[in-house]
Parts: sequence; C-alpha cells; structure tokens
Amino acid sequence: MALLEFRNVGKTFPSGRGGNEVLREINLSVEPGEFVAIVGYSGSGKTTLINLVAGLQKPSAGTVIFRDHPVSGPAPERAVVFQNYSLLPWLSVHGNIALAVDQIFADQPSAVRAQRVEHYIGMVGLSHARDRRPAQLSGGMRQRVALARGLAMNPEVLLLDEPLGALDALTRSTLQDEICRIWQEEKKTVLLITNDVDEAILLADRVIPLSLGPAATLGPEVRVDLERPRDRTAMNHDPRFRAMRIQILDYLLAQREESRAIIHQRLFLPALKPEDITHLNLFDRWLTRRGPRRRAEIHQEPVEIIR
Ligand SMILES: Nc1ncnc2c1ncn2[C@@H]1O[C@H](COP(=O)(O)OP(=O)(O)OP(=O)(O)O)[C@@H](O)[C@H]1O
Ligand SMILES: [Mg+2]
Repeated sequence: MALLEFRNVGKTFPSGRGGNEVLREINLSVEPGEFVAIVGYSGSGKTTLINLVAGLQKPSAGTVIFRDHPVSGPAPERAVVFQNYSLLPWLSVHGNIALAVDQIFADQPSAVRAQRVEHYIGMVGLSHARDRRPAQLSGGMRQRVALARGLAMNPEVLLLDEPLGALDALTRSTLQDEICRIWQEEKKTVLLITNDVDEAILLADRVIPLSLGPAATLGPEVRVDLERPRDRTAMNHDPRFRAMRIQILDYLLAQREESRAIIHQRLFLPALKPEDITHLNLFDRWLTRRGPRRRAEIHQEPVEIIR
C-alpha cells in the first residue's frame, strides 16, 4: 500500500483574475522505501509540490494522503530539507540540528541525543564549524546543515527540495552517496526534487518529470532499473542510462518547444548598398524621373519571438 499519494492534486495561488494555477491534476503514489525523484524547470512548481506533502500549503483541488490520512499540517514524519536552508540565524550549526533532534527525540537520554547531533554534523563534514552561526557559513555549508538536520530527524519520508544545488561537484557527489546510503540502510522513503537529470537517475528508483508550468503536471515516469550500488562513472557508459537520460531530457525539452510562440512578421530592412548617384546631376534626375532603386532590395525577414 502506498505511503504517500497525490490524488488529482491542484494548486492555484490567488493572483488577479482567475489566480495563478501552478499545479494541475498531480497523481502520484509512492511506496514505502521507494526513492522517487522529480525533475523540472525552475518555477514549474516543484517546491509547491513538496510544501503540499510537508503540510505547509493546502491543495486547491484533490488530496495529499500520507499513511491513509489526508495531510493537514506539518509533522516530523515528513521532514523537509528546504531549498533555502531555513536555518535559525541566532543558532550555531550544532544548535540548529540539536533543536530539531531534542524536540523529536525528547524521550531519549540527552547523551544519546547529543551523539546523534554530532554524528550528523560529522556526516556532512562540518565538525570544524559546529559552533558557527549561519551567517558565518558559505551557502554550501548552510545547505549541508539543512541536510544534516533533515536526516537527523529520522522522518518516515524525507522530502529533499534541491538539497545539493549549492554544492561544489565533489561535495555534491559525496552527499549523493550519503543520501543513497542512508536511504538503503535506514529504509527511508525519499522524495527528491532536483533539476539534475543525472543525479535523479543515479539515486532514484523512479524519475518523473514535471511539465513546464503554468498548470504543471507530472509527465511519464522512467523506472531506473540499474543495479545498485550505482557507479556514476560506469553509468555514463551504460546504454540503459543514456536511453533514460534522453527520454527524460526529450520530454523536458519538448515542453520548452511547445511553449514557444512563433510569430512571423515582415521586417523592412534598409538597402545596405547605397545607390550610386554621383553621375546624375539634379537636372538629369529631373529629366529621367529616376527615383531611388532601393525598393527592389528591400528584404522580408521572418522574426521569431520567443516567450
Ligand atoms: N506562496 C506563493 N504565493 C503565490 N505564488 C507562489 C507562491 N509560492 C510559489 N508561487 C508561484 O508558484 C510558481 C512555482 O513556484 P515554485 O517555488 O514551486 O517553483 P520551483 O519549481 O520550486 O522553482 P525553483 O526550481 O526555482 O525552485 C511560481 O510561479 C511562483 O511564483
Ligand atoms: Mg523550488
């Protein structure tokens, strides 16, 4: 039975007349222990989709179901690693993670909780910066704190909203491996939002593209049947990987093509080569009644206007 389900979910934000319809007819079913990745363009509604699962926003249509119950608000069982980190600025790295851990594991001895906090700080390579506040960290470091906090909360479903976007390639691949390891070892269910198709295929069981908004909806899913553990270098040479990648990219690129409005307009360009009239004096011109010959050189050019 599905752990998480979207049933005909739509989301419209109020804006002027008719509102801004961001998501339409989203249908998705995520099984316990599954790793599902959603890829899409910026602004298509990915964060909105995550917010609906997290219970931070309510759908305008349809229902989001978690463990047989409609989602009605946030809960630690559905922890989010936010795209914008969302760290408390007055708390240190340690403080930000400890706050979440102490709330969720309030029944555990403080030594166990403290160990848990240190474990996740170490996992994201921030032990040396454990006492720094967010303002004293780089963007990538903040992102790692947010990831450590999400993982330390041990949620049933981990909602990752582009959690690695601000990281350099090396840290990014280390944390991709960590996410994969945690998912496998701790039998988590993961919903990953990413704009990186390769990352989605490397990590997920299923990759689903989100169409280009407005009124974005989920496109055809791609099942990633590559053996685990997956080796990112070897994968690049695997024809199955290439086929999946092309399938997803083709869908996303086709969306872009569809959204282009092509308008053909006449564009009158001036004659580039001025007529030589030096041999004609004004009287000759009056006699011959010869006007400029430029009209023959006027071109018509189609102009493409891209929305
Ligand atoms: N609270 C809100 N009120 C009004 N409009 C909103 C709100 N949140 C998001 N939107 C609009 O919904 C659309 C989708 O936003 P969303 O943040 O979900 O996109 P995204 O796919 O996560 O983009 P990105 O990849 O850049 O993070 C945008 O047009 C945005 O302006
Ligand atoms: Mg977003």
